[in-house]
Amino acid sequence: MAHPLEQLRDDALREIESARDEQALETARVKYLGRSGTVSAWGEQMKTLAKEKKPVVGKLLNEVRNAVTAAIDIRAQQFRSQKETGALDKIDISLPGTPHELGALHPLTQMLERSIEIFRRMGFALADGPDVEDEWHCFDALNTPPEHPARNEQDTFYLPDGRLLRTHTSTVQIRTMQSAPPPIRVIAPGAAYRRDEVDATHSAQFHQIEGLYVDENVSVADLKGSLEFFMRELFGADTAVQFRPHYFPFTEPSLEVYVKSKALKKGEQWIEVAGSGIVHPAVFEAVNKARGDKAYDPEKWTGFAFGLGMDRLAMILFDIPDIRFFAQNDLRFLRQFA
Ligand code: DAH
Repeated sequence: MAHPLEQLRDDALREIESARDEQALETARVKYLGRSGTVSAWGEQMKTLAKEKKPVVGKLLNEVRNAVTAAIDIRAQQFRSQKETGALDKIDISLPGTPHELGALHPLTQMLERSIEIFRRMGFALADGPDVEDEWHCFDALNTPPEHPARNEQDTFYLPDGRLLRTHTSTVQIRTMQSAPPPIRVIAPGAAYRRDEVDATHSAQFHQIEGLYVDENVSVADLKGSLEFFMRELFGADTAVQFRPHYFPFTEPSLEVYVKSKALKKGEQWIEVAGSGIVHPAVFEAVNKARGDKAYDPEKWTGFAFGLGMDRLAMILFDIPDIRFFAQNDLRFLRQFA
């Protein structure tokens, strides 16, 4: 005949197995394992048993307690996973998810990054300056006197306090020289502003890469070599580069840079892409005056500078007919460069 403890175990397991919910299971747990539960009562009875019976009954009691505890754990786990499945069933997995669209760089940014990468290989470091400038950095220091037409308030945007939106990135030449002595080898990519009538080739905001190289014995040959290398890296080895005499107040001599390349959609046409020249001694003198030293002694140091029009370059390279497309945020346009 089964020991009463075995009977107890079978009853308990049956009851646990058939518990319909967590509450029924808890009732069963209290009934068997609780402080005054049946299994616990047997523990009390052990004390009154004859010595020789203790090991056998004790062992059996342990087995029963373990079996009941394990059964309760298993049943509780079943209830928990039933609950989880129930919650998951309420989720409609046929609903479309939130799509994650992969972005891409703006064509102008792509153009800037390609250009910067080429100049970096030539050893140019990145320099920076503010878009909101004062007249001194934008004009005076760049040998552009007050009566110069570029100062016309029709030419750029003036703030009530007299500051302005820089009309070119050449301001960064001055800021760089103010903060460090020669030699200097920097490029400064950034936005520039003009109050132009907006049309297919003019925008109130456009982008330039300024370049400045100051060292001993820098000549037009260095300027030409650097810009030719740049243009060929950008547009291909068969790119022809031409330098035409021009006038900028801050360079002497001044040169406009033209390119002709099969990579450019305009084919065999010369296209103006940059202004450049040998830094005017008056620019060095203005910097010296602001620095309060003679760090940029024009007798010792020479330099070349250039300003590349990035929007124009990107338009030619990607065959974009209208500069306004860059800022219209039209995904049909932008996706073509993704
Ligand atoms: N700042 C000129 C412009 O915006 C471009 C330029 C010409 C920059 C000659 C230079 C330079 O550094 O040397 O039209």
